[in-house]
Amino acid sequence: MKTTLSVIKADIGSIAGHIKPSRALIDSVKECIDRQLGKLITDFYIGSTGDDVAILFCHNHGTGYGELHQLAWDAFICGTEKAKEQGLYGAGQDLLADACSGNVRGLGPAVAEMEFEEREAEPFLLFTADKTDPGAYNLPLYLGFADPMHCSGLILSPKIGRGFRFVILDVAFTEEDRVIELDAPEELYDIAALLRDNERFVVSAIYSRATGNQAAAASTTRLHNIAGKYTGKDDPVLLVRCQGDFPATGEILSPYSIGHYVAGFMRGSHTGPLMPVKMGGAISYFDGPPIVSAVGFCVHNGKLTEPVDCFDHPYWDFVREKVARKSYDMREQGFSGPAMLPYAELEYGGIVSIMDKLEKKFSR
Ligand code: F6R
Ligand code: MG
Ligand code: MG
Repeated sequence: MKTTLSVIKADIGSIAGHIKPSRALIDSVKECIDRQLGKLITDFYIGSTGDDVAILFCHNHGTGYGELHQLAWDAFICGTEKAKEQGLYGAGQDLLADACSGNVRGLGPAVAEMEFEEREAEPFLLFTADKTDPGAYNLPLYLGFADPMHCSGLILSPKIGRGFRFVILDVAFTEEDRVIELDAPEELYDIAALLRDNERFVVSAIYSRATGNQAAAASTTRLHNIAGKYTGKDDPVLLVRCQGDFPATGEILSPYSIGHYVAGFMRGSHTGPLMPVKMGGAISYFDGPPIVSAVGFCVHNGKLTEPVDCFDHPYWDFVREKVARKSYDMREQGFSGPAMLPYAELEYGGIVSIMDKLEKKFSR
């Protein structure tokens, strides 16, 4: 029987601003999911990254399964009630609809799902990011799956060397999914030409060209496209299967050493480096910096092992120091130039109102 991994995440309220959900909120989400253990789902895991709560479900119903999405929605509603009871900030913020009718896609929560035949050993990583948008994974996925500088398997293992197929979504096109499939290494430059634009083109899935098996699934939600206005950053999730015909776990983690600059940070309107942090980490400096956590598991007969915190290692302390420095360097220039996002990506209308007002005052 095939196994499905579905990760569904939302910001439904947090302590002290956009910092971290309360223990009680997470417990109330968990309580709601627990009731379906052994029925709708075979296993689950709940974690937080900054102010977001991510639920990882294991089940046998395939992707986009209505009852499963409904369960996630109901659990987020339970958590929102707790957030309201505790007076948390932004209670229910990412639940953009009054009700869910079977699929949370397009309603606010971020979703990434993959169905596969379990291998004898099935190692995979769950990435969750806060204070950024789905394009944040573009560079690490490109480097982890298509660049031997990070993925040595591309030259060391003939199967991996066959390359990977990237499925890339145009997130600016909202009427329907506008997708392109490109093969690495032959179409590497085309892939790079799209992925340089993190706000428009986003990797949604990756497949092994040797076996056709799916290696990665990422969320592609752009909240401002759904709501038609600013509602907060998307804070994307990503699932990556590792080892065997796929890159090794360490090859997938390797690009997070860079701390590349992404959109997000304070008020979702700035540029900051992506800092790899430990599970359950909070947010701090300038409502940031943008963070990502990586939790490793094996799944066997639909059951998860305990989670392993992949960024909880002395090596990443060195990276965090470097990324803190990069944050500071960018923040030194405040609102100037690349420190703040271009107009279309600003999550507040303030600058537009200022420009409207000043327009009338210009003389020529
Ligand atoms: C993402 C996040 C930010 C905020 C944004 C708005 O997790 O926290 O995108 O949503 O800074 O904050 P408020 O609601 O305070 O205007
Ligand atoms: Mg938030
Ligand atoms: Mg968030």
